[in-house]
Amino acid sequence: MNQVPSHQVVVHRRGGPEVLSWEPVQVRSPGAGEVRVRVEAAGVSGFDLMIRGHWFFGFTKTPYTPGEDFVGIVDAVGPEVTKFSIGQRVAGWTFGQGGGYAEVIVRPGNTLVPVPDGVEPVTAAAIITNYLTASLVLDKTAKVRSGERLLIHGAAGGLGSALLQLGGLAGFEMFGTGSGNSTDFIADNGAVPINYRTENFVHRIRDLTDDGVDVVIDVVGGPRQLWRSSRCLQRGGRLVMLGMASIYKSGVAIIPLSLLTAGAVALWPNGVSVPMSPSMLSFPAKNLGWYRDTLTGLLEKAAAGQLKPAIAAEVPMSEASRAHAMLEAGGLVGKVVLTCSK
Ligand SMILES: NC(=O)c1ccc[n+]([C@@H]2O[C@H](COP(=O)([O-])OP(=O)(O)OC[C@H]3O[C@@H](n4cnc5c(N)ncnc54)[C@H](OP(=O)(O)O)[C@@H]3O)[C@@H](O)[C@H]2O)c1
Repeated sequence: MNQVPSHQVVVHRRGGPEVLSWEPVQVRSPGAGEVRVRVEAAGVSGFDLMIRGHWFFGFTKTPYTPGEDFVGIVDAVGPEVTKFSIGQRVAGWTFGQGGGYAEVIVRPGNTLVPVPDGVEPVTAAAIITNYLTASLVLDKTAKVRSGERLLIHGAAGGLGSALLQLGGLAGFEMFGTGSGNSTDFIADNGAVPINYRTENFVHRIRDLTDDGVDVVIDVVGGPRQLWRSSRCLQRGGRLVMLGMASIYKSGVAIIPLSLLTAGAVALWPNGVSVPMSPSMLSFPAKNLGWYRDTLTGLLEKAAAGQLKPAIAAEVPMSEASRAHAMLEAGGLVGKVVLTCSK
């Protein structure tokens, strides 16, 4: 078999950033319908941190290679692949299977899309997970309509900044929480910034809107946070619970507590609903047409200069543990992206 030498990040046991190890590996030739890609850039996400540090029922067993998304150059194509050729730049999502933190990856061809000329690999990598999730949430979960008001928590983080930019393109009136200098980024992206460390966001939203916003998108989680988020909503408002960024500090117990709180908010007789987002681990895989069309559209918007994802840092893939430590420490604006040398 025509194997190629490569390196990848491997997690052998759950723990802190130090459990990410950089190891040599031989990568096989692509089989029927598959494409082999030399990775140029791969995204680091809050999800990668969550499953590295904590065990969740049904999630990847160790050892595993993290990484939900990647961009790179096609290196070999298997039989029956007609849409891709060697040398072409492509982007892909790994549907919760991980594997993106690798110099070379083999993926089904029908899960890849071409990256348009003019879009840098790091830019494309910053788009995949977060902008796909943000598109799904704005269009299908929260169903935000023109003229509605939106509060985005963690608005300068990877996912939050994607929500902010897509919300701005759609012309929504937005408010965003962040801390430190990230409030400047939030304001520059068209939202009213609220510093969650120095201001009470419930009071600020009440002051700014009188009756509250239509939609809150909460990537922070935790019972107190979610309850306070629900108090920012007007009657008929929607609370979307999308992430658990506070798990880094509070631990895995916030997951059941957050679910209980979401249930209480939904049952509370004030007309607020808690729509559940389709899982990004299964929805794109079951809706490959939606996935490819949406990702292609997002990359075309980047090529046209309409989307400019914020890059918090570019870190060599061999130093993935440093990238995880940076994201865990917080205070960043945008996405952390791993890069491979050519
Ligand atoms: N459901 C999905 O499909 C999906 C997809 C992607 C991500 N996620 C989830 O979304 C969460 C965030 O992921 P990410 O990649 O965007 O992580 P990230 O880049 O680390 O962003 C997290 C953001 O939350 C902010 N934050 C932390 N505590 C806060 C608080 N109390 N109030 C307001 N903001 C706060 C942080 O700001 P500071 O640094 O200033 O503290 C940071 O900007 C993770 O739990 C991830 O698993 C879910």
